Amino acid sequence: PRVAVLISGRGSNMMSLIEAASAPDFPAEIAVVISNRPDAHGLARAQASNIATRTVDHKAYADRAHFDAALDAVLEEEQADLVCLAGFMRLLTPGFTQKWAGRMINIHPALLPSFKGLHTHERALAEGVRIHGCTVHFVTPEMDVGPIIMQAAVPVLDGDTPDTLSARVLAQEHVIYPAALRLVADGRARLVDGRVSVDEFIL
Ligand code: GRF
Repeated sequence: PRVAVLISGRGSNMMSLIEAASAPDFPAEIAVVISNRPDAHGLARAQASNIATRTVDHKAYADRAHFDAALDAVLEEEQADLVCLAGFMRLLTPGFTQKWAGRMINIHPALLPSFKGLHTHERALAEGVRIHGCTVHFVTPEMDVGPIIMQAAVPVLDGDTPDTLSARVLAQEHVIYPAALRLVADGRARLVDGRVSVDEFIL
């Protein structure tokens, strides 16, 4: 399958997908990186890896529906089969998420269903949880709610700041996102009746 990676910023998860997909046995190809921000640092990183890039600037569209239609048109032009959201900071319309249901995944920097939304590391520290982590899930219309494909946990340590905790979680994001994409791309993880079916679970 051809994968489109959607970004808004630095693109470290995008790079982990590009690097994993460069292995000869990886079951998917990163065909294109699409940013909603023309200045996203990840665009230059993708280009340096010889990956095609596109920008769909959300500021050029009147509303979310028009932006999503433009995004969908680019995905079709690029013949994308799968979509990976990787630090993509736009809410998507229900119509768009329904069209790509089962073919679009996201990485979230918390152990869902805890800490949906933004500032997850600050909130985890404020709540005093001792275990935190990250989640790869299929995208459904409601934000950060979709069926879970893979998670990794990390300890919260005394003296952690949002930065130190975020770095510990990010290292695990870079492990599980490529692993989850591999499962989805070769059909071992599928969305069936709104739940994830996983044939085999190998990291
Ligand atoms: C990551 O923490 C990801 O989980 C979240 O946004 C951040 C993006 O970082 N959705 P990067 O652009 O992949 O470096």
